Amino acid sequence: MLIKTYNEQNFTLEILYHIGALEDSIHFIFDHSTKTCALIDPAWDADLFIQRITDKGYRLTDIWLTHWHFDHTNAVDELVEKTGAKVIIGVDEMPYLQIDTLPETVAHNDTIFIGKTAAKIINTPGHSAGGICYLLDKHLIAGDTLFVFGAGHCSLPGADAAKFYHSMQKLKQINDDVMLHCGHDYGDKIETTMGEQKSGNAYLLIDNEADFVNFVEGMAQGLITYPTAAVSKSAIKLML
Ligand SMILES: [Fe+2]
Repeated sequence: MLIKTYNEQNFTLEILYHIGALEDSIHFIFDHSTKTCALIDPAWDADLFIQRITDKGYRLTDIWLTHWHFDHTNAVDELVEKTGAKVIIGVDEMPYLQIDTLPETVAHNDTIFIGKTAAKIINTPGHSAGGICYLLDKHLIAGDTLFVFGAGHCSLPGADAAKFYHSMQKLKQINDDVMLHCGHDYGDKIETTMGEQKSGNAYLLIDNEADFVNFVEGMAQGLITYPTAAVSKSAIKLML
């Protein structure tokens, strides 16, 4: 199991990679002052997550979801049953969510807390109807909205390629030194910054909605190869 840990002043971000059948990345936010933990998109192995949290002397109190897809939510009900944690999801995701637990909803620009650690909500529909990203200081947890030099597909209910383009424009406003953390390890590296992505991620480089939609649809039809490494604007033009 691959693990990365980022120690910040008020919190520690720990990431487990390649978890479960679809190799999801699971993100833990440990708030130092209250010894509470928020788990982002828990799936596949509830007991492993509880064990890791309790072994560190922390308590799972919050589950933050980026979107409704099964491979990001399938451990939620078990974790809620075992810990009583509350669940948070973007308000526009509610019609699609397939868990038994009733979550609390958040909207764009809301700020939520795990203990004394704040996370800003960025509403990024497109991969799903109400997908959100969580921005904590210098870390963006993006679910399947943005991958290293790639992004999620637009093929399941609620997806919308045109909306996805406008979500990308929001993500381009994030500072260059912020680290990007994704729902899957699909790129040619794991650690990256938003600055690096802004200069090499095709989904952020395409500068108009029509080309973006063509790019996403071309990929769904197998006409465009999914990018796993940095590309240039001229290379993207040749793909379209
Ligand atoms: Fe997804």
